[in-house]
Amino acid sequence: MASGEGAEKQRGDRYSVLLPTYNERDNLPLIVWLLVRYFDESGFDYEIIVIDDGSPDGTLEVAKQLEQIYGSDKILLRPRAKKLGLGTAYIHGIQHATGNFIFIMDADLSHHPKFIPEFIKKQKEGNYDVVSGTRYRGDGGVFGWDLRRKLISRGANFVTQVLLRPGASDLTGSFRLYRKEALQKLVEKCVSKGYVFQMEMIVRARQLDYSIGEVPITFVDRVYGESKLGGNEIVSFLKGLLHLFATT
Ligand code: GDD
Ligand code: MN
Repeated sequence: MASGEGAEKQRGDRYSVLLPTYNERDNLPLIVWLLVRYFDESGFDYEIIVIDDGSPDGTLEVAKQLEQIYGSDKILLRPRAKKLGLGTAYIHGIQHATGNFIFIMDADLSHHPKFIPEFIKKQKEGNYDVVSGTRYRGDGGVFGWDLRRKLISRGANFVTQVLLRPGASDLTGSFRLYRKEALQKLVEKCVSKGYVFQMEMIVRARQLDYSIGEVPITFVDRVYGESKLGGNEIVSFLKGLLHLFATT
């Protein structure tokens, strides 16, 4: 029976959430609690992989307590000794992921787990390879950023749209759901390591003819801790953009 097969398939799907952390001890307990809540409510199978890069604030100690509370089948700790950057943190996380789908999101509560069921619904709707959270379509938006940060984000998106025409509305956001094989292929292809990584991922997804769905999300600036976006990230974004423009 067709409907029975569908339900069977749905039960077979497993979602690995990659949470890269650097100095997130105040945010981690809340984001994990929310993730558990929304996954348990919706009944999907999941695991949460915390990739901490030797945070001096003791994030890893907090993560260990969460592992005790929720169980080591739900919370997996895959730490690294020092801060090696976000791009390689994802690669490290993927190697340990057992799900056939992978969520990538920030651990600082800028990405709210309440959107998780919408990503999953959208993915199933179009059988998409990638579902990208967008701040720049529908009900999406950004809250709490100053003008400088808004301009950087809008500027990066605008220049990339003009030069590369990737046809997705939010190129620099990082709240996304990937089919695991697609994500593996994409990270193999991607050369950039800093913030520009998100942009390269979606541009390459288009090149590889992966199907992309979008879900409007609200991005709320972090309450605890600091962003790691600095001037050198802007320079490397522009370099990465020019590289893609020249080579693709
Ligand atoms: N393991 C690890 N190693 N985690 C890191 C590192 C690192 O070197 N650097 C940052 N993180 C973690 C943070 O702890 C957080 O969970 C997440 O990665 C994002 O870092 P933020 O510093 O909060 O980034 P942001 O808020 O400035 O930028 C976000 O929005 C941008 C788009 O507007 C990120 O999602 C960017 O990827 C995105 O381009
Ligand atoms: Mn942030």
